[in-house]
Amino acid sequence: MIREVKDNTLYFDGCSTVELAKKYGTPLYVFSETAIHREFEELNATFVSKYPNTRVAYASKAFCTVAMYRLCQANNACIDVVSGGELYTAMQAGYPAEKIEFNGNNKQPEEIAMALDYGIGRFIVDGLQELTLLEAMCAERGKTANVLFRITPGVKSDSHDYIVTGKKDSKFGIPLDDDVIYPQVKQAIDAAHINFMGFHFHVGSQLFDNGSHLQALDIMLNVVKTVKERFHYDVTELNLGGGFGAVYTTEDRKPYAYFLDPMMERIEAFFKEMGINRPNVVIEPGRSIAAEAGLSLYTVGNIKEIRDVRKYVAVDGGMGDNIRPALYQAVYDGVLANKADVPKDDVATICGKCCESGDILIRDLAMAPAESGDLLAIFSTGAYGYSMASNYNRNRIPAVVFVKEGNDRLVVKRQSYEDILRNEIF
Ligand SMILES: Cc1ncc(COP(=O)(O)O)c(C=O)c1O
Repeated sequence: MIREVKDNTLYFDGCSTVELAKKYGTPLYVFSETAIHREFEELNATFVSKYPNTRVAYASKAFCTVAMYRLCQANNACIDVVSGGELYTAMQAGYPAEKIEFNGNNKQPEEIAMALDYGIGRFIVDGLQELTLLEAMCAERGKTANVLFRITPGVKSDSHDYIVTGKKDSKFGIPLDDDVIYPQVKQAIDAAHINFMGFHFHVGSQLFDNGSHLQALDIMLNVVKTVKERFHYDVTELNLGGGFGAVYTTEDRKPYAYFLDPMMERIEAFFKEMGINRPNVVIEPGRSIAAEAGLSLYTVGNIKEIRDVRKYVAVDGGMGDNIRPALYQAVYDGVLANKADVPKDDVATICGKCCESGDILIRDLAMAPAESGDLLAIFSTGAYGYSMASNYNRNRIPAVVFVKEGNDRLVVKRQSYEDILRNEIF
């Protein structure tokens, strides 16, 4: 049990959350190493070991620190980065360059230069402009880049509009119009400094239905077939993106196999019929690895009861450390961690301390009656929480602590006020 209650106190991976709050202060991000390892173990057992020539590239936008990259490396995973900052973090973690894959819809020349100089494994290219730039930068360096094209499959998946990426009207990927995609593929095949490997899609995030992955896959395989027919070219790699849903409140999480088995079945059958070797297959899960492995701890401050309207329980963090509820109405569950056995007889709205009315972390949470000084734990905050944190209102970004079987270690210090002023010239 990663989460358990003992003596009225919430424990996380064997650590008392009350003791963690005393030791490190609040707000605090806490990650269970055991939970992260379990995700990789499931992926290894049901995908990487089951199907030859497959791999997992953790989408590190979900949660990126040196310590997290070290856990990925311990699990023999590749990583997907989308910026110079993530790449730099991976380099500082000593991540093997060939295990790094670079996504992003507007990679900057200096980011591409960093990636080429480090010698990363794959560029997931988002269009012709990027291909042309990459080819020129490779030529200057006498290098060859391994390239996949991110396609826009034009499928709609069932998630919030801000985290749906595969529909036709999207800033991500190359549209599949005949006169757009195929000339670009031809250019990539012919380019002297590009090793064109294949295609990539990512349909969206927080998905519980495999329908849009399967639709996108069929569309991708059709492109593969056309490339074979027109250019006599066999692709060597396919990347199916991430998007596998995590549990925030009461969602019915699906095992990875629910998404991956039917996709692998179609891929195997398709290439058998084509009479060519099945390419490598890569997936890029982020949220499903990090979300449930994290929780956030806050201290309760002011409590405001607005008669006949609602009760607000304010905590010492908010949208600066977790923007998801304000950004796309994400829903969370939580508990008073120091009163974990007390019946949830009250209902309150958990708000942050930022100067925005939208700074609400949880609406109408059933909880034990709160008092100032209580400790609130919000569950499943491991993905897109710390990685999207900001200094809005000049609040400091909280510390990150890893816990494992009763032991804790600080992996990111809480920002200081000096850190906030670090780049100011005065
Ligand atoms: C290209 C790409 N791959 C992978 C992911 C990870 O998605 P998720 O965290 O839902 O698994 C994203 C998320 O935005 C993405 O854009």
